[in-house]
Amino acid sequence: MHSAILLQGLTLMPAVNLETVAIIGGGVAAVSFACALRAGGFNGSIIAVSDEPELAYDRPPLSKTFMSEGGDAVRLDTSRATNVEWLHGVAAISIDGRQRRVHLADGRSLPYSALVLATGAKPRPLAALANVELPSFTLRTLGDARGIRARLVAGARMVVIGGGIIGLELASTASRMGVSVSVVEALPRLMNRCAGDVLASFVAAQHAQNGVELWLGKQVIGCSLQGVLLNDGTTVPADFVVVGIGVSANDGLARSAEIACDDGIFVDRYGRTTCPQVYAVGDVTRQRNPVSGHFERIETWTNAQNQAMAVARCLLDPTAAPYDEIPYYWSDQYDQRIQVLGIPQGDEELVRGNAGNNAFIVFHLLRDRLVGATCINQPKAVAPLRRLIASGKTPDRKKMIDIDLDIRKLADDDQQ
Ligand code: FAD
Ligand code: APR
Repeated sequence: MHSAILLQGLTLMPAVNLETVAIIGGGVAAVSFACALRAGGFNGSIIAVSDEPELAYDRPPLSKTFMSEGGDAVRLDTSRATNVEWLHGVAAISIDGRQRRVHLADGRSLPYSALVLATGAKPRPLAALANVELPSFTLRTLGDARGIRARLVAGARMVVIGGGIIGLELASTASRMGVSVSVVEALPRLMNRCAGDVLASFVAAQHAQNGVELWLGKQVIGCSLQGVLLNDGTTVPADFVVVGIGVSANDGLARSAEIACDDGIFVDRYGRTTCPQVYAVGDVTRQRNPVSGHFERIETWTNAQNQAMAVARCLLDPTAAPYDEIPYYWSDQYDQRIQVLGIPQGDEELVRGNAGNNAFIVFHLLRDRLVGATCINQPKAVAPLRRLIASGKTPDRKKMIDIDLDIRKLADDDQQ
């Protein structure tokens, strides 16, 4: 945590003499960074390097509409990133911080006055699946999505390992396509990284109602052509397996340049790493969560976009506001729109509305302090709740669960 402490101490953003910006990565963070630089008036050179062969695309649809409908509707809009040189299908392999150059796998070497690492994250592998013939997939790239989609035919048997965002969104899409789906989750409940108990139970009920078989608290210890072997001796039949047991940061490039990392590149609110003129944004970063105060990886689309935009603005204008947003993600499962703000896991949950009627809010408290909110089919509540959580105030418990009190009034009430 030494570097984290160092980074917390850095508060001023000295002006940077910008001529050439090199961006490594081709996801939403990279694209948002390039767009924000141009929107802020930067007219120097921008070069963006992605190791994927594809034009920049968006990931959230891969488990949702793209998985069910296919098509080409997943491209990210790069039209505002004018005059950017996009290199595809080539990886950045090393950084020379002294010479301010980044070296690419094809032998090229790019000079930079600012280098932006937007290298994202990759799925964690499951050792129990090594060297087995049963087809197995992870879901991170467009290529992964195409491979899985080709197998989603009615009657096919899919086992998803990991009951997190990826596994559950895929389970919901696939079961609606007539695929027989089983989910194996190691812990006794679903969505362990990013949901509270109420949401986890709600989601479990949705999947059970839609015919998805849930194996909770089970470990996969092996695999055969018949299916997946669990630690209780059960074989769950499968034609193919999808593993969604979390992701790890693509921080190898930064680590090899001795930039401080710990499953994620440490950054401050200006996106600065521990190497001068090297910045990082998006899933690859380990940043201070303004709600918990801890350095964390915030693995959400909204963070990747908004952190990148804020860091770009600060790079152009040292007086611009540094990044300070509370975490937010959404997930679509069946017809349920799930939206989660702040920290969805505290020591107390208060439910506003009836958790059985598919439209409710869960307030998350930690040591009597409001730290997060989960909205189920309550999109209009998100903006006021974001304001409320960012304010640091904790309304009276009775008011939080009073469905007759408008959520905007709750958020903007100065008497708390
Ligand atoms: P990434 O999207 O991972 O992009 C990083 C890019 O950098 C990749 O193309 C990678 O190949 C490239 N790269 C890595 N190393 C190098 C290198 N050395 N040289 C060159 N290029 C390199 N979030 C939500 O909030 N809501 C959702 O509903 C949601 N759904 C999702 C569904 C799926 C199927 C997936 C996979 C993710 C979903 N997410 C969702 C998460 C969201 O997509 C990520 O938070 C977001 O993509 C992070 O963007 P990023 O640009 O930081 O990283
Ligand atoms: N076997 C079964 N389940 C496991 C195992 C295992 N060996 N290891 C972990 N799990 C479970 C966790 O308990 C957790 O519930 O897998 C789930 C992983 O959930 P997430 O962390 O949400 O990971 P994943 O669903 O893979 O999503 C990865 O994609 O949508 C994005 O933002 C999301 O960054 C995240 C990424």
